[in-house]
Amino acid sequence: MEFNKITPDFLTLLTEATGAANIFVDQETLATYAHDETEDLTYYPEVVVKPLDAEGVSAILKLCNQYHVPVTPRGGGTGLSGAALPIYGGVLLSMEKFKAILSIDTENLQSTVEPGVITEEFINAVAEKGLLYPVDPSSKGSCFIGGNVAHGSGGPRVVKYGTIREYILNLEVVLPTGEIIWTGANTLKYASGYNLTQLMIGSEGTLGVVTKIVTKLIPKSQYNVLMLGSFSTNENACAAVSAIFRAGVTPSALEFMERKGVEWVIKFDDIKFDLKDDVNAFLMIEFDGDDMDVIFKDAEKVNSVLEEFNCSEVLFADTAQQKEEIWKMRRTMAESVKSNSVYKEEDTVVPRAALPQLINGIKEIGARYGFESVCYGHAGDGNLHINIIKAGMSDEDWLSELKKGIAEIFELTTVLGGTISGEHGIGLVQKEFMSIKYSEINLNLMRGIKKVFDPNGILNPGKIF
Ligand code: LAC
Ligand code: ZN
Repeated sequence: MEFNKITPDFLTLLTEATGAANIFVDQETLATYAHDETEDLTYYPEVVVKPLDAEGVSAILKLCNQYHVPVTPRGGGTGLSGAALPIYGGVLLSMEKFKAILSIDTENLQSTVEPGVITEEFINAVAEKGLLYPVDPSSKGSCFIGGNVAHGSGGPRVVKYGTIREYILNLEVVLPTGEIIWTGANTLKYASGYNLTQLMIGSEGTLGVVTKIVTKLIPKSQYNVLMLGSFSTNENACAAVSAIFRAGVTPSALEFMERKGVEWVIKFDDIKFDLKDDVNAFLMIEFDGDDMDVIFKDAEKVNSVLEEFNCSEVLFADTAQQKEEIWKMRRTMAESVKSNSVYKEEDTVVPRAALPQLINGIKEIGARYGFESVCYGHAGDGNLHINIIKAGMSDEDWLSELKKGIAEIFELTTVLGGTISGEHGIGLVQKEFMSIKYSEINLNLMRGIKKVFDPNGILNPGKIF
């Protein structure tokens, strides 16, 4: 792709548009915005801009569009697919100053929020009013709600409550050409033409920059119960997952953790946990609701299902602290793997009854290519995160052969009826695998949509396809 470099004249125009206080070209700032949480990838922007409002974003995009300068929008920088990496340099557009929760409407159960609000702060703010915003990815303490919109984020509660797609009613968006629009309506239903709101969600900052978000909220339930089931094999744990739903139960979270991940996280977090020798896999199963009798009945049903799959032990977390420790173990698993080894992270998703075939297939592919893997994730959604560990692989194989192994994993997910990312997105690092899942016809439709929104291709170029 051909873009223009940033010249002193362009920088002057940018400064006039957004104010000198919001523009940074010092090395230290550029270095901070040169990476996200994706492996060890680093791409320096030429300038970092931190606009204050939609008009500021519009002025920047108009200039970049006119001068063919690439723009990469960025939220909290917690992404795992490299979508926020400024791979062509240019302008890094940080949304960190969009920090306001503009309203929490307790009559309609809606909120209007700016994209730079940290997800956990939003969750806490609505919880104070007895409400639930259930989209809570593991990075909730530092990711931005705008980044969650851009990625169609999920997290552990998707299994009962759905992804962020279920909670976004309307978006204010600045188009790559600078116009400011609202995508839809603040309503629970929408049958009024193409659904531009849903098109923006998961578009990874390639179609527009979100500047206001109208979310749906739901009542927060009073109680929750957390069970931890232990299994001697991954296969049994994974096979139990779809059986739980067939028994007529929908947990509020159903997470899988492989032994290796638990071992590393215990070290990383200094958690006290009695990890038995014959246990190789865990299922975390949470129920929530307002009626403890119903919750316990569901837990009993699940207990019986777990027994059928040779679950060796079920632990009920008694105290809030115990629940917190188990959740911490699960939520910090990605970080602990990172701190332990050279790794690559993949995000697979299949219909949930295919989980045993998926996990067995991953291990078989790993054995052939010489890599190890730590699998964990949102088993209730059929969504497994795979941390591929370099183990005994040579540097050369790690750089060249591994790609073939990853391609085989994605071929497997596709054959099983799934796809190549459940929630981390395509961004930069998965785009070479898109053709495993999508035909040229699909990809050309996506390219056509991109062209309509962004005729000069300036917004987050080089991502998705
Ligand atoms: C998690 C992130 C990595 O589930 O998606 O922990
Ligand atoms: Zn996840």
